[in-house]
Amino acid sequence: MPKSIIRARNLTKKFGITQGLVQKLQGQPKMYVRAVDGIDFDVYNKRSLALVGESGCGKTTVGKLIMKLLDVTDGKLWVKGRDITKLTDHRELKAYRRTAQMIYQDPFSSLDPRFKVFDILEEPLLIHGIGDTIDERRAMIEEALEEVRLTPPEEFIDRYPHMLSGGQRQRVAIARCLILHPTFIVADEPVSMLDVSVRAELLNLMKDLMDEEDLTYLYITHDISTTRFFTEDIGVMYLGDLVEKGPVGEVLDNPLHPYTQALLTAVPEPEPDRLDRIKEIPIKGEIPSGTNVPKGCRFHPRCPYAKKICRKKQPREKTVDHKLHRAKCHFAGEIEFKMRVRKVGKGGKVSKVEEIGIDELRDEETVPDELK
Ligand SMILES: Nc1ncnc2c1ncn2[C@@H]1O[C@H](COP(=O)(O)OP(=O)(O)O)[C@@H](O)[C@H]1O
Ligand code: SF4
Ligand SMILES: [Mg+2]
Repeated sequence: MPKSIIRARNLTKKFGITQGLVQKLQGQPKMYVRAVDGIDFDVYNKRSLALVGESGCGKTTVGKLIMKLLDVTDGKLWVKGRDITKLTDHRELKAYRRTAQMIYQDPFSSLDPRFKVFDILEEPLLIHGIGDTIDERRAMIEEALEEVRLTPPEEFIDRYPHMLSGGQRQRVAIARCLILHPTFIVADEPVSMLDVSVRAELLNLMKDLMDEEDLTYLYITHDISTTRFFTEDIGVMYLGDLVEKGPVGEVLDNPLHPYTQALLTAVPEPEPDRLDRIKEIPIKGEIPSGTNVPKGCRFHPRCPYAKKICRKKQPREKTVDHKLHRAKCHFAGEIEFKMRVRKVGKGGKVSKVEEIGIDELRDEETVPDELK
């Protein structure tokens, strides 16, 4: 087994909710959002991990805990064998932050609009005392721009962020990480705010950099269809918990948890080339609030396969075939997943509702051609 670079055990982050005066006077107990609710995972050396799930399930909070932008409430987090929950010394934190870098979702707000590209990329070098002269730093900046394919570098080095496209800005953000030669990068939805036409290009670049720079990523995304191409391992988050995890091929080809199934079949509607049918994602309603996590299996109010036990007993992690592929579902490996498909006849009339095996529908994968 490859070496674990990041190891989380019972990783927990709760955010306190500010109470109003009335609630305080009434002596109501303080409320918490259980943003990350006691999860275990490993990110192995040069085996990137994707964290997927709907908005609000806790992905960014995990990224921020790893980056030490937030303190853990409970549990342990080791990075390269060191317990970083205990890291408080300013100098040690600074050294840690050189090895761990983060790419943010929004390239429009993550770059200071008053700085030119040169200044943006020089800043981390100055903070960490890298490069004795401005010429040395300039050479490093040009090299970083070349690495992210912003070439020739002299064409970009004196531009302000507003003179760059969204994709180019995100490349500058990646160059700002690379310039410190980090061990791993937390990439938080790195392409979700970019134009669809440049997303695949940027993911391809990040993938190439993984090989060229010996990088490991924690890749955070709500788009499960990009994970097969981009990472080796995957963790599916639901309401602060990791409900399924394992090697990416195992999880995507043989999902054990109904929530993973739902993510895999959640395709945008309508399908312009198939106006004769409407697919229904087999989960109900919205993600509940993190202040009020359902008892038993936290997914039970939305799960089409829920049984009595699901409302009472929290499922433990189960393996079925592959020992690293685990899911927290009482019926993992026993559910025959089906999807409802409404056939639409002439004049938009729904003529029949069918249940179709999900494997059949998944053959028409939603992965963009460029990423296949
Ligand atoms: N600073 C904060 N204070 C209070 N609640 C927060 C804070 N940051 C995140 N949360 C809550 O924690 C949960 C997880 O948020 P987040 O990690 O941003 O999810 P994701 O990245 O998956 O969309 C959400 O319910 C969110 O509202
Ligand atoms: S434990 Fe029950 S409610 Fe939870 S995912 Fe499995 S079948 Fe659904
Ligand atoms: Mg987020």
